[in-house]
Amino acid sequence: MIVHIQKILKKSQKGGYAVGAFNTSNLEVTLGICRAAMRYQSPIIMQVSEATIEYAGIEVITAIVNSIAKGEAKNVPIALHLDHGHSLEIIKDCIKAGFSSVHMDASTYPYEENIAMTRMASDFAHKFGVWTQGELGSMFGKEGMSMVKLPDDPDSFMTDPSKVKDFVKRSGIDALAVSIGTMHGSFEGKELIDFNRLKKIRKNTNKPLVLHGASGTKDNEIRRAVKMGINIINIDTDIRIGFTKALQKTLSKKISFYDPRKVMKPSINEVSNVVGHKMTIFNSIQKI
Ligand code: G3H
Ligand code: ZN
Repeated sequence: MIVHIQKILKKSQKGGYAVGAFNTSNLEVTLGICRAAMRYQSPIIMQVSEATIEYAGIEVITAIVNSIAKGEAKNVPIALHLDHGHSLEIIKDCIKAGFSSVHMDASTYPYEENIAMTRMASDFAHKFGVWTQGELGSMFGKEGMSMVKLPDDPDSFMTDPSKVKDFVKRSGIDALAVSIGTMHGSFEGKELIDFNRLKKIRKNTNKPLVLHGASGTKDNEIRRAVKMGINIINIDTDIRIGFTKALQKTLSKKISFYDPRKVMKPSINEVSNVVGHKMTIFNSIQKI
């Protein structure tokens, strides 16, 4: 069932577990994510990016999520969220479409501009009871990528703990996306969380903290981050990898059928497996 993100977060903060924010882009990925939620009885945040909205159309992708949430996933709490929105226009569209949470990502702008843009989004969203996520420090990499040159000075991308209080207060946000060593895309062995930085950030705000770029990060690093106060964990690339590898495997076999439903089924199942594994790491299973 579709619920407001606040309901999911209120419970998870009390329970000391994190909730996965999983990126969907089509029917099959949505089914895979929802089926994992049902299998593991876990709440989820279903998030869509601007690229997905461009690909599927906001009405279509929202209708897919809503109808599955009302149908086979009616017993699990699902919150709809805009991931990395870059303009007030897209935020308005998502609020109109029924999202309970939107991410205003102005993190690549200078600090004061980031605050001003995020504040504008918060003021607008709050009129409709919608949550805003702001981002301080920014994420390196790109979802769906598996190789990229690392920045010479990774520190320059990361969240400055001394700015957290001021940013949260002046931007009016409900959740804070932090940059603490993970990257968009999957770079196994290179995504090392700066726990000291996380500790300082956590001390400076009681707002839910969002870990972006969690694909490719080791399970034990994620477990530790959850224990230290990360509340929402974004996963996109690992879902894409699972989906695509399963599809490649299906199509590499000599098939005796030409049926898109049969072609897609292993990919739906693999998305479910990937997402289910994340839920166990986040400790969100049996929490509905
Ligand atoms: O906003 C989405 C994410 O932060 C996903 O990152 O592709 O590394 O899982 P990821
Ligand atoms: Zn992200």
